[in-house]
Amino acid sequence: MTDALRTLLGQALEHAVAYREGLATGLARPLEDYHASRDGFSAPLPETGTDPGTIIDDLATRARPGLMPTPGPRFFAWVMGASDPVGVAADWLVSAWGQNAGYQSTSPAAAAMEEVAERWLLDLLDLPRDSGIGFSTGATLANGICLAAARTRTLLNAGWDPDADGLFGAPPVHVLIGADAHSSVFSSLQLIGFGRKRVITIDTDDQGRMLPAALEAASGGLSGPKIIIAQAGQINTGAFDPFAEIVAIGKAHDAWVHVDGAFGLWARATPKRRHLTAGIEGCDSWVTDGHKWLQAPYDCGFAIVRDRDALLGAMTQWSSYLPSVAQGDRVPSNYVPELSRRARGVPVYALIRAFGRSGIADLVEQHCGFAVRFADRLGAEPGIVVRNAVVINQLIVSFGTGDSAARKAATEAVIGAVQLDGTCFAAGASWRGEWVMRLSISSSATTAADIEISADAIIAAWRQVQSAGL
Ligand SMILES: Cc1ncc(COP(=O)(O)O)c(C=O)c1O
Repeated sequence: MTDALRTLLGQALEHAVAYREGLATGLARPLEDYHASRDGFSAPLPETGTDPGTIIDDLATRARPGLMPTPGPRFFAWVMGASDPVGVAADWLVSAWGQNAGYQSTSPAAAAMEEVAERWLLDLLDLPRDSGIGFSTGATLANGICLAAARTRTLLNAGWDPDADGLFGAPPVHVLIGADAHSSVFSSLQLIGFGRKRVITIDTDDQGRMLPAALEAASGGLSGPKIIIAQAGQINTGAFDPFAEIVAIGKAHDAWVHVDGAFGLWARATPKRRHLTAGIEGCDSWVTDGHKWLQAPYDCGFAIVRDRDALLGAMTQWSSYLPSVAQGDRVPSNYVPELSRRARGVPVYALIRAFGRSGIADLVEQHCGFAVRFADRLGAEPGIVVRNAVVINQLIVSFGTGDSAARKAATEAVIGAVQLDGTCFAAGASWRGEWVMRLSISSSATTAADIEISADAIIAAWRQVQSAGL
């Protein structure tokens, strides 16, 4: 058994290293599309087994052309971290250990590392130190976890126990949310039974920041439980809601204030960007991802809740066969809607140790600087317009000077040309009626030279589109 494991892990190691070595020089896009990948893998259900070594080799070879170079240095399409080597190595150990990280008794070491990582995260992000953190699959689920805790507390305060009695007949909970919130929050609202449409939408400014006056006006006439959903890091502009004002309004109206900070919450980890999050510590719950700026391998998100009892109330399950724990001991399973779970705390523990507080601050700061440099380079080229105030790692640009339809066609053509060229990878989105190219810098593999090469490639693609007459 151990010889077989050694052989297979050795094979996997060779494939993994070859893949990662190719990222800096290879094309920054998959070499085949989904349909080609599906054809490559498609086969009748095997009636008999195959030699495991053959499978690992075959899997790596067949997958390779269909892999998106997300951990590479010039992947900018979405906010996706680079699965830093120490996190990958720690995650390999997690798989090899085969631990169920739900309880102290099912894995004392995994539970211990998660508890330490919880403490470190609260320190790094400078959030209330007695908050509880659910280690989830990502920010989407983490939003759902935090909002479930908000549902528990706001309804308990109104005399209704939603965890025991559900939502039928419960007092209505008013949900107030900025007009430029991320789609995942609506998915979370849908999941917890609040509905994605049953919200009060609060107007935002040109960067997507919630307008406090609009929030105050909307909150004024409401009675009963309320949840305000704010945002740290708008997906297109990177903008931050004005938390101090939002928290003051929340307190005045007895509302739970939640923050989706899937990537933006990490601005708190660097002294130079902390001001963007001023007042955020007064909120009730916060979400961020490990698999974005912390560079953790997928999947890894954090649901951070000040009111630990509300979080536990919303998530805990009981049965006589489940391990009992000493009063006050932290049970990983009770923080997420999962019983058996992966030891997500392990790569987080390893990454925070590897980077340290200063390493994380430097990484975030470096990416924000790269975004400014990118914007300066692109904005200096005639016909390219930077459409946001670059405050963090996000920038959006449009191409062309004609009417809106012509600009959209030009921007789409540039995105297509950039992807085909393969120097870097970028994708599009709509912002304030304008089709834009989004550039998110969040990979620990990216260097200053990568930004220059990528800016050159984007400008070249734009010139090519222009000479083609678009
Ligand atoms: C602001 C924001 N919230 C939530 C999410 C969802 O995160 P995840 O993909 O980890 O579920 C994202 C993803 O990009 C995001 O940018």
